[in-house]
Amino acid sequence: MARAASPESPESPEDAYTAAPFVPEGADLAALRQAAAECRGCPLHREATQTVFGAGDADARVVLVGEQPGDQEDRQGKPFVGPAGKVLNRALDEAGIDPDETYTTNAVKHFKFTYVPERGKRRIHKPPSLREISACAPWLAAELALIDPEVIVALGATAGKALLGPSFRVTKQRGMRLEGDEAGPARGEPVVPTIHPSAVLRADDQEAAYAGLVSDLRVAAETLR
Ligand code: URA
Repeated sequence: MARAASPESPESPEDAYTAAPFVPEGADLAALRQAAAECRGCPLHREATQTVFGAGDADARVVLVGEQPGDQEDRQGKPFVGPAGKVLNRALDEAGIDPDETYTTNAVKHFKFTYVPERGKRRIHKPPSLREISACAPWLAAELALIDPEVIVALGATAGKALLGPSFRVTKQRGMRLEGDEAGPARGEPVVPTIHPSAVLRADDQEAAYAGLVSDLRVAAETLR
């Protein structure tokens, strides 16, 4: 039978990915962050530089959940410090949400990447699997329980699946005020899904994609009034 991962048995077997044994009970955000640095709940920690835990206002009314750290976030240890973060902050401002009053985190706390021969040493982002998303969910649940925001914004498909369940589809559900999956980390809190800010950077029509992001974020802003 598969053993669950634990701090005593740091390498989890492939069929028992979960961060749960690493999440200390009754911890505040600082203690959670410290414990997350040692997480071995799935194999992603092996290749990543470090755990990238959430950051921002611990009393935030708005929590933004991304997919996973990117290359720059992995190096710097903070979420959304790269190009997607710049787009996100600008869009938040425009939607009437002060980025300094938010808390930002990711569904998955380690950078997952691959190398492709034609791109040399460049680390290419790989989307996390459902198993990795659910393994990491105890960290997101613990962050959300402590911050207790009024609204959660799911940035892209991975965050949407983490908060709303595996059948979530960003194209169909973006810009709606939904209820977080009771079985998941949001425990019934309102969730507004939208596109990931990096999708704006990849879009053929960046202006239209950006306007769509701002419009979805306005739905989140409206829940605060
Ligand atoms: N993309 C994400 O989803 N999260 C980050 O922290 C950076 C880029």
